[in-house]
Amino acid sequence: MKILLLNGPNLNLLGTREPDIYGNQSFEDFFESLKNSLPEVALEYFQSNHEGALLDKLHEAGFSADGIVLNAGALTHTSVALADAIAAISTPVIEVHISNVHRREPFRHHSFLSAHCVGSIVGLGLEGYRLAVLWFLKRG
Ligand code: DQA
Repeated sequence: MKILLLNGPNLNLLGTREPDIYGNQSFEDFFESLKNSLPEVALEYFQSNHEGALLDKLHEAGFSADGIVLNAGALTHTSVALADAIAAISTPVIEVHISNVHRREPFRHHSFLSAHCVGSIVGLGLEGYRLAVLWFLKRG
């Protein structure tokens, strides 16, 4: 089972960025503990602040990985290109948001990506990524 965790803009700053919203843990620390708890899964992590790099990664993993867990950050609310990429690939994508975007500013309420994803997890912190991976594992 091969699963890609893909993070978009500003998510490299997790742990220091607005900790009251996004928590104190860095994604690297979280990813390390996730990998240790699931040794049977080939987990890959990629983060970029650049839309094109995220598109390239979706194209690269999107026909070979068993699942993609995507937090596109603010691009969620703006990017038709990412939505088209998710629609174009064959690997199923779960959309994750650390914060509950529906309790925040109205511009965060709309996602261009959700309609093309198998499901979405919002507001459960970093735990949302773990739940998404477990769903892919259960699905097989
Ligand atoms: C986010 C929510 C987005 O609105 C925001 O732009 C982010 C993070 C989240 O994980 O809660 O960068 O995707």
